[in-house]
Amino acid sequence: MEMSLPERIIVNSGIFDIWRKWTARRLLGKAHHDHKRVLEIGCGKGTTTKIIADYLPRAKIIATDFDNAQVKRAKENIRHLKNVKVAQADASQLSFKGNSFDAVFAFLTFHHIGAWKKAQKECFRVLMPDGYLYIDELELKPFPRLQHFFLPTNGIFSRTEFVEALKRTGFVVIYLRSRYKFVLVARKPR
Ligand SMILES: C[S@@+](CC[C@H](N)C(=O)[O-])C[C@H]1O[C@@H](n2cnc3c(N)ncnc32)[C@H](O)[C@@H]1O
Repeated sequence: MEMSLPERIIVNSGIFDIWRKWTARRLLGKAHHDHKRVLEIGCGKGTTTKIIADYLPRAKIIATDFDNAQVKRAKENIRHLKNVKVAQADASQLSFKGNSFDAVFAFLTFHHIGAWKKAQKECFRVLMPDGYLYIDELELKPFPRLQHFFLPTNGIFSRTEFVEALKRTGFVVIYLRSRYKFVLVARKPR
């Protein structure tokens, strides 16, 4: 979904970058070093893509975002990363073939997607068996006013609803840490 103006201003600010670099590393700390074919959904302007590329320098990374303006920013910001390709894509309707990636990353993306359950299913489809889904996500359901102001049209879920839907999709949740936001690692079984 398109971001609202307040959110667009926040996510493209320098302060957001500092916070992202600090918090995104927690999720990368849970990732395996040997991933080779990596998809990022909701790459924004490329801040989290850079963090993935630092951590997985030998992986081929496709960084995607729904919003063409963010895709343009990411292309500019990470043009020096030769192992990264940036493309426009809707995470709830991916054009990649099934079993294409051994890791999918999503940093603060799912709460933007009205069809978030469909996006979970798409992540499952494009992952190879034994592939990993790495998620850093906000739980906005307890804060309806905040959600209404910043993200009026987007996905609303509690952490429990999100995790249960992932399990119904077929994922095995292998790590979950939660405070005001949650860090989650799930695996597509063989
Ligand atoms: C809060 S930003 C996060 C950007 C980056 N991952 C980070 O953490 O700095 C969420 C991004 O998700 C993108 N997005 C929203 N709906 C999407 C969808 N259906 N498919 C892919 N990306 C989407 C937005 O355009 C936005 O760039």
